[in-house]
Amino acid sequence: MSEESRSFRTAAVIPAAGRGVRLGPGAPKALRALNGTPMLVHAVRAMAASRSVSLVVVVAPPDGATEVKNLLAEHALPDRTDLLVVPGGESRQESVKLGLDALPPGFDVVLVHDAARPLVPVDTVDAVIEAVRDGAPAVVPALPLADTVKQVEPRTDGSPEPVVATPERSRLRAVQTPQGFDHATLVRAHESVTENVTDDAGMIEQLGLPVVVVPGHEEAFKVTRPLDLVLAEAVLARRRANDGF
Ligand code: CTP
Ligand code: MG
Repeated sequence: MSEESRSFRTAAVIPAAGRGVRLGPGAPKALRALNGTPMLVHAVRAMAASRSVSLVVVVAPPDGATEVKNLLAEHALPDRTDLLVVPGGESRQESVKLGLDALPPGFDVVLVHDAARPLVPVDTVDAVIEAVRDGAPAVVPALPLADTVKQVEPRTDGSPEPVVATPERSRLRAVQTPQGFDHATLVRAHESVTENVTDDAGMIEQLGLPVVVVPGHEEAFKVTRPLDLVLAEAVLARRRANDGF
């Protein structure tokens, strides 16, 4: 197929199978409510908000696929967006793989987006897709760091940890999602990279392929600890106020 005739059909895989241990006791993190709506519903809407995304694959907690299906059926998506729900695995990497396995043929671009980043703006989603369409095999949205970062010799006994190095902050970026990929390249990465990685682009790096960064957004932060719930609800309240509700 020539470049011109490619339609670049785009699917989004949303790993949502984690427990959310750092958030504290309660339902699996993706099912916890933000201003009355489950985090996962916000995340699915954030992907469906892009006109380029025609399929969203949700990777549910292993024993919760039916519950997630029912939940998502209650919340309308745009007509242009199809939805699939599959059960996830033990690790994030495994969950993403299970989501990729469920993709029907015909998608050129795949986004992988954490359910735990429910508030990413559509402009960030579209910027990632556009950079993949422009030829990058892997694209990550990222922001400069506010804090200086120290590399340490980790200690588990509670004693002070020795500092090993201080990487130059201006060269560091905090990476968010959605990360965008050429579909075939991401499938190949999941077939050949077995080491544990904390993001999908890391697998592309291990294949020796280029990964590029586009600007991330402060509202694409990951809901990880209890204070992040407060921040997420404040962002939603600000959006409501600005939308004139
Ligand atoms: N995830 C997943 N399958 C797993 C583990 C994580 O699909 N086995 C997903 C989470 O649901 C989340 C994303 O990967 O949307 C990012 O992971 P993280 O923020 O670490 O979420 P949890 O693993 O749920 O949180 P914690 O590490 O605090 O338990
Ligand atoms: Mg985790």
